[in-house]
Amino acid sequence: MPAVILVTGANRGLGLEFVKQYAEAGWQVIACARDLPGATALRELAAAHANISLESLDVGSLEQINDLAARLAGQPIDVLLNNAGWLGDRHKQSLTELDYATFEEVLRINTYAPLAMARAFMPHVLAGTQKKIVVITSGLSSLTNTARFGNLYFYRLSKAAVNMAMRTLQAEVRGQGIKVGILAPGMVDTRLLRNSGYEGPGVIEAPQSVTAVMRHIEALTQEAEMTLYTGEKLPW
Ligand SMILES: NC(=O)c1ccc[n+]([C@@H]2O[C@H](COP(=O)([O-])OP(=O)(O)OC[C@H]3O[C@@H](n4cnc5c(N)ncnc54)[C@H](OP(=O)(O)O)[C@@H]3O)[C@@H](O)[C@H]2O)c1
Repeated sequence: MPAVILVTGANRGLGLEFVKQYAEAGWQVIACARDLPGATALRELAAAHANISLESLDVGSLEQINDLAARLAGQPIDVLLNNAGWLGDRHKQSLTELDYATFEEVLRINTYAPLAMARAFMPHVLAGTQKKIVVITSGLSSLTNTARFGNLYFYRLSKAAVNMAMRTLQAEVRGQGIKVGILAPGMVDTRLLRNSGYEGPGVIEAPQSVTAVMRHIEALTQEAEMTLYTGEKLPW
């Protein structure tokens, strides 16, 4: 039986690359996107790989999360990969704006959704062989890393909060054999990074990041440390 992974935000960027590389590695991939009709690249990838199935999922909707978990009842999932993420309009989270609606939306997608996914899919993960729950965090969540991206208040705190959520989750489910991963992909050339306004050095391409992150998912322990794609452990 092939191992099974569920990926959120699978239509572009890192999510699409995770689907591609896991499918090519022979995994059964459940690829979720909130706009399947508009997900042209993902649908083309699925058409070329019989081991990719597509599901509609807006992770901002608790109802959709629970509906999908019910639809997939009885399906073991080895790796639950919470990849979907939202930067939020960077201008609306500067100190001069601090737009509350943007704050709520960024927290809903980046912090609440991975936790709600973990709860909804706990039976599927427990039924899997590998029992892994992963969130794609950001090095910007580190409290010691304040040097760059100075005004992305909401994004940074949403990722710091999801780190705490996943650490807390790891403590709660340790006895059930579940491993929780908190993995940072590096600065990757995707729409999210482009929308951040960052124009400096150190940007890598999605395939390089995903290949490295997959190795960390493979080697996951129950330490729930924040691990950069390079393998470096990042300080909280
Ligand atoms: N790129 C980087 O440098 C970097 C660095 C650190 C961490 N990350 C993290 O990496 C993850 C992937 O981001 P990316 O870089 O690949 O950016 P991206 O190209 O902007 O992709 C973000 C993905 O999340 C999806 N998404 C957003 N809101 C959603 C919702 N409510 N429901 C379902 N899907 C939703 C998007 O779908 P739509 O197309 O429908 O919007 C898209 O598929 C995110 O968690 C991000 O925070 C990225």
